[in-house]
Amino acid sequence: MRIDIITVLPELLESPLNHSIVKRAQDNGLVEIVVHNLRDYSQDKKHHRVDDYAFGGGAGMVMQVEPIFRAITALKEERDYAEIIYTSPDGEKFAQPLANRLSMGGDLLILCGHYKGIDQRVRDHLITKEISIGDYVLTGGELAAAVMTDAIVRLIPGAIGDEQSALSDSFQDNLLAPPVYTRPADFNGWKVPEILLSGHERKIHEWQFQQSMERTKRLRPDLLND
Ligand code: ADE
Repeated sequence: MRIDIITVLPELLESPLNHSIVKRAQDNGLVEIVVHNLRDYSQDKKHHRVDDYAFGGGAGMVMQVEPIFRAITALKEERDYAEIIYTSPDGEKFAQPLANRLSMGGDLLILCGHYKGIDQRVRDHLITKEISIGDYVLTGGELAAAVMTDAIVRLIPGAIGDEQSALSDSFQDNLLAPPVYTRPADFNGWKVPEILLSGHERKIHEWQFQQSMERTKRLRPDLLND
């Protein structure tokens, strides 16, 4: 799988995508993540500008259609993308089912929004999907792109050593994950539930399921109504 990300702030994406599982998945050839600087596609050879004032006035700069068109067209010549995504608070809410779908669907191109927004013609003609990571406004789409990329990459088969572990994440099956513990079994009198020390696999699974249900009912009852 390949994920291309177009941004005006490539530095912002360097660190989050080069650690832990996402780094290992790249090192193992499961995913290739390539960050592109939109300014490289600017026609303004001097200042590499990619934004301009909004027609009709109003505060804030708007990302221009030309550099984005040039960047997306150049990348589309190399490969067919399953989705060309624009990060925006207006988009479909990012959640586990969408992460699952995107992890299986093929190569992705993510355009990070900035300033007041992008020229609407980009959204009308070049973008196939707009995604929001939550009902709040970020300074730019880079952190949203990093969040989505992380959630998608860890779902690629082989990215997580123990495959079971991605399947038992919170939100898979619309349930929160059960609590987990490690050694010591007793820390200053804070004890690990006996059942987990019993070695009885079936009973442990039943307990974990009950815990998941109880947690979900208490903390996220909305998930059970979906
Ligand atoms: N850009 C600004 N805010 C955003 C959000 N909540 N989700 C995705 N992209 C954004």
